Amino acid sequence: MGDSSCIAAPSTNRLEGKVAIITGGASGIGESTTHLFWKSGAKVVVADIQDELGQAISDKLGKNVCYIHCDVSNEEEVINLVDTTIAKFGHLDIMFNNAGIMDRPLGSILDTTKSDLERVLRVNMVGSFLGAKHAAKVMVPQRNGCILFTASACASIAGIATPPYALSKHGVVGLSKNLAAELGQYGIRVNCISPSGLVTGLSAGQGATPEQIEAGLHELGNLKGKILRVEDVAKAVLYLASDDGGYVSGHNLVLDGGFSIVNPTMLKAVGLIQ
Ligand SMILES: NC(=O)c1ccc[n+]([C@@H]2O[C@H](COP(=O)([O-])OP(=O)(O)OC[C@H]3O[C@@H](n4cnc5c(N)ncnc54)[C@H](O)[C@@H]3O)[C@@H](O)[C@H]2O)c1
Repeated sequence: MGDSSCIAAPSTNRLEGKVAIITGGASGIGESTTHLFWKSGAKVVVADIQDELGQAISDKLGKNVCYIHCDVSNEEEVINLVDTTIAKFGHLDIMFNNAGIMDRPLGSILDTTKSDLERVLRVNMVGSFLGAKHAAKVMVPQRNGCILFTASACASIAGIATPPYALSKHGVVGLSKNLAAELGQYGIRVNCISPSGLVTGLSAGQGATPEQIEAGLHELGNLKGKILRVEDVAKAVLYLASDDGGYVSGHNLVLDGGFSIVNPTMLKAVGLIQ
């Protein structure tokens, strides 16, 4: 039997002494995670291609956050990102491969071009691969580290994304599991997080207003009364990155309020929902 007096309250400095890189850290999920990691005591390197936004976050948060321009699909820039992080902060504990793009909200394979496909795979898959590879190069000798990816609920439920985007995010989940198997021997944990739809630059850049997206998410979501926010994703990432998730590896944490496990037509058919 457990003794409740032994249960420690969650620490407010859950990442004290840790150094993290967050790709796509200048906006959306990455920006929110940057703030939460910083508040939790980490030193954070924001890596992005939106230089003004990234630099502004670093200027606002001070000496424990710095911005480095890095196109994640460019291996030289990823090597520079990791090398500069080590030079500035001394080590690397958490690599959050979060940068991603969408080709468009929905569309058929019939009118998807090869260049649409290659553009999405280059950032979402190649970028994740390169980030993980160069983080692992420094984490393996440390025999410690945490590699995280942002995948998507579209890797758990079909029909909610374009073919290139779905392909890229299935690839990210597969890479994450494969690396958990390979890198476990060095004490490195590897996990990914799969959010369902939420309002960010990525989703709002696809034609609908944030209000329209929010209304759609309220309507479609399984969990009523709230929709997923970037802060919810950041908290889940913090769990996986901190010692609270210290024995979690090879996991795909789906953050979708149950959307991907529910068939609402069945619930309607048996009269459980209107
Ligand atoms: N918004 C959603 O509904 C949703 C749902 C599931 C998963 N995701 C995933 O979440 C992640 C973060 O996206 P977001 O929703 O916060 O959108 P966002 O557009 O606000 O953030 C993505 C960031 O990635 C950066 N980026 C794009 N290409 C890059 C490159 N080549 N190199 C470096 N940085 C680059 C962008 O500049 C941006 O700052 C992505 O991987 C996305 O696929 C988003």
